Amino acid sequence: MSFLSLRLLFFLSLLTLSLSQSQPLRGVFIDCGATVETVSDGRRWQPDAGFVSAGTPRNLTTPGLVPVLSTVRSFPLGVGVRRKFCYVVPVYRTGKYMVRTTYFYGAINGPVSPPVFDQIVDGTFWSVVNTTEDYARVMSSYYEGIFVATGKTMSVCVAANTYTDSDPFISALEFVLLGDSLYNSTDFGTHGLSLVARHSFGYSGPLIRYPDDQFDRFWEPFGESSPTTASNTNVSVSGFWNLPPLKTFERELTIGQPAPMELQWPLASLPNSTYYIALYFADNRNSSSGSSRVFNISINNVTYYSNLNVTPEGVVVFSKRWPLAGLTKITLTPASGSDIAPLINGGEVFDLLLLGGRTVTRDVIALETVRNSFQSYPLDWNGDPCLPRQYSWTGVTCSEGPRIRVIALNLSSMGLSGSLSPNIANLTALSSIWLGNNSLSGSIPDLSSLKLLEILHLEDNQFSGEIPQSLADIGTLREIFLQNNNLTGQVPNSLLGKPGLNLKTLPGNHFSSPPPS
Ligand SMILES: *[C@@H]1O[C@H](CO)[C@@H](O)[C@H](O)[C@H]1NC(C)=O
Ligand SMILES: *[C@@H]1O[C@H](CO)[C@@H](O)[C@H](O)[C@H]1NC(C)=O
Ligand SMILES: *[C@@H]1O[C@H](CO)[C@@H](O)[C@H](O)[C@H]1NC(C)=O
Ligand SMILES: *[C@@H]1O[C@H](CO)[C@@H](O)[C@H](O)[C@H]1NC(C)=O
Ligand SMILES: *[C@@H]1O[C@H](CO)[C@@H](O)[C@H](O)[C@H]1NC(C)=O
Ligand SMILES: *[C@@H]1O[C@H](CO)[C@@H](O)[C@H](O)[C@H]1NC(C)=O
Ligand SMILES: *[C@@H]1O[C@H](CO)[C@@H](O)[C@H](O)[C@H]1NC(C)=O
Ligand SMILES: *[C@@H]1O[C@H](CO)[C@@H](O)[C@H](O)[C@H]1NC(C)=O
Ligand SMILES: *[C@@H]1O[C@H](CO)[C@@H](O)[C@H](O)[C@H]1NC(C)=O
Ligand SMILES: *[C@@H]1O[C@H](CO)[C@@H](O)[C@H](O)[C@H]1NC(C)=O
Ligand SMILES: *[C@@H]1O[C@H](CO)[C@@H](O)[C@H](O)[C@H]1NC(C)=O
Ligand SMILES: *[C@@H]1O[C@H](CO)[C@@H](O)[C@H](O)[C@H]1NC(C)=O
Repeated sequence: MSFLSLRLLFFLSLLTLSLSQSQPLRGVFIDCGATVETVSDGRRWQPDAGFVSAGTPRNLTTPGLVPVLSTVRSFPLGVGVRRKFCYVVPVYRTGKYMVRTTYFYGAINGPVSPPVFDQIVDGTFWSVVNTTEDYARVMSSYYEGIFVATGKTMSVCVAANTYTDSDPFISALEFVLLGDSLYNSTDFGTHGLSLVARHSFGYSGPLIRYPDDQFDRFWEPFGESSPTTASNTNVSVSGFWNLPPLKTFERELTIGQPAPMELQWPLASLPNSTYYIALYFADNRNSSSGSSRVFNISINNVTYYSNLNVTPEGVVVFSKRWPLAGLTKITLTPASGSDIAPLINGGEVFDLLLLGGRTVTRDVIALETVRNSFQSYPLDWNGDPCLPRQYSWTGVTCSEGPRIRVIALNLSSMGLSGSLSPNIANLTALSSIWLGNNSLSGSIPDLSSLKLLEILHLEDNQFSGEIPQSLADIGTLREIFLQNNNLTGQVPNSLLGKPGLNLKTLPGNHFSSPPPS
């Protein structure tokens, strides 16, 4: 899977930009583990404390690092549990974002190889993060994906899996707002795009990025040894919905003669999956030249496009779903009779990622409000509560099926203090609540809207006030444990007389007239 781990030259040639001439990047740039803001790469990197509640900021000792890579946030590995740690980032609802995560290990876990772990976006498993190879070459790794925000926040999480053997970490997290037309053939309601490769062919200079790419997508050089030529074209990228940088059209890869040109690209062997592929071309001759540059494109011997007429204005050929597996061979064959060589300027390949969905928003908001009224809560209570399935929040059980609801809450003996928010009553799919043996105080909220509630355990806490009468309205209740709190008043008769209810209120409360035991 290491093909996803593209390499970023990490002793970065800092960009010397004349920012006034380019559109500023719109987005959120988070320097994980940093305590102060820094300005580099033409953007303002914020410290991460406002976006994440778990983990520890760490400073790396590797000399010569750019500021963004010199700090990381590191997250504690749970013993034998899969657990996620999420950044929650404010976004524009329906905004299309390029999300980039950057990792540079810097031996923060001691002299062991970098941990291998997962990354998650909202409720979707995004990819495995394996920086081992890059780290051995003293390089950082980055991952890029394109996702549309369905709410006012998006979460990106790193997560310990069974193969994770030391604390996961992250160096940087970026969200760049993309223009509407970018990659708009993809149905972002059901899919995300996870970058496999993006190259500028025939080019061997430094990474092409902002401000050449107005969204700071990274176009890696793919110079190779084949002959390449400089271009005389005058490309207008506004004709391309994906808005590639002009710079990719300044040089191209060609074999210089009218013969089939074969290109093994992307370089890595790909898992069997469906991919989005976009290939960019522009004729490098002055437009006045007579003959046209026409060729066929095939991928692994399957026709991808026939009789492509490459003009100096440039042309893109994209496929929104193309199956690939293993190594990929792209062949450009000049049209019969043509004496003009084929060429290629740029290419992008993304894995189409089936989105995992989201927990019903009303439940998410309710659960977040409940969480916020606790004074301490489990480290992984951020991001989507239920998804991905194997990464639901500690103590949270969810329903199957298309509408994902929270059906049980078990935070027994978790050392919780604070109060129980009345918003718990908005989790209307709950069938059991286990909060016994904590230090929760305040009153017991009205739970009568929980029409499916069967089990309520609030024993061994410091709840005070009276037992709500309305508990008797919940027809499904069969077990209520309230002993060892600080409850007063009387136990409602409606509860005492309820058939089939196992009610425990003693010892350890202060009722004015003790219930018959
Ligand atoms: C990291 O370095 C910064 C600046 O030198 C310092 O303020 C911060 O306390 C350090 N953090 C840790 C965790 O050592
Ligand atoms: C991580 O990558 C290294 C180098 O490619 C590989 O040897 C190792 O098996 C990978 N680890 C996991 C858990 O996939
Ligand atoms: C993508 O954007 C372009 C430019 O705005 C527009 O012409 C085209 O119809 C859009 N395609 C889709 C599928 O929305
Ligand atoms: C490119 O085209 C623009 C307008 O179409 C023109 O102003 C400019 O001079 C051209 N540049 C070159 C190098 O031909
Ligand atoms: C890829 O997977 C599909 C279905 O899962 C299968 O039909 C196809 O043969 C596989 N292709 C390769 C090259 O393994
Ligand atoms: C293309 O035009 C430029 C000037 O616009 C000229 O310098 C160059 O020699 C021309 N190239 C070819 C291949 O005709
Ligand atoms: C593609 O076609 C060439 C020649 O037609 C053949 O030698 C080669 O085995 C084919 N490759 C695949 C993957 O089918
Ligand atoms: C290009 O593709 C067209 C249509 O598939 C085909 O008729 C033609 O023979 C191909 N040309 C070459 C040179 O392969
Ligand atoms: C609640 O979680 C604890 C572990 O935290 C477990 O021991 C207990 O069995 C769970 N109770 C229920 C009813 O699932
Ligand atoms: C109550 O919770 C504490 C941790 O908060 C734990 O040490 C203790 O064993 C628990 N008691 C019972 C009876 O479960
Ligand atoms: C529940 O959700 C509604 C909106 O759906 C909100 O108005 C209310 O404040 C929430 N909390 C409670 C306790 O009902
Ligand atoms: C129990 O409640 C009484 C009054 O309702 C209060 O004075 C006392 O501090 C509470 N005790 C605890 C342990 O919360």
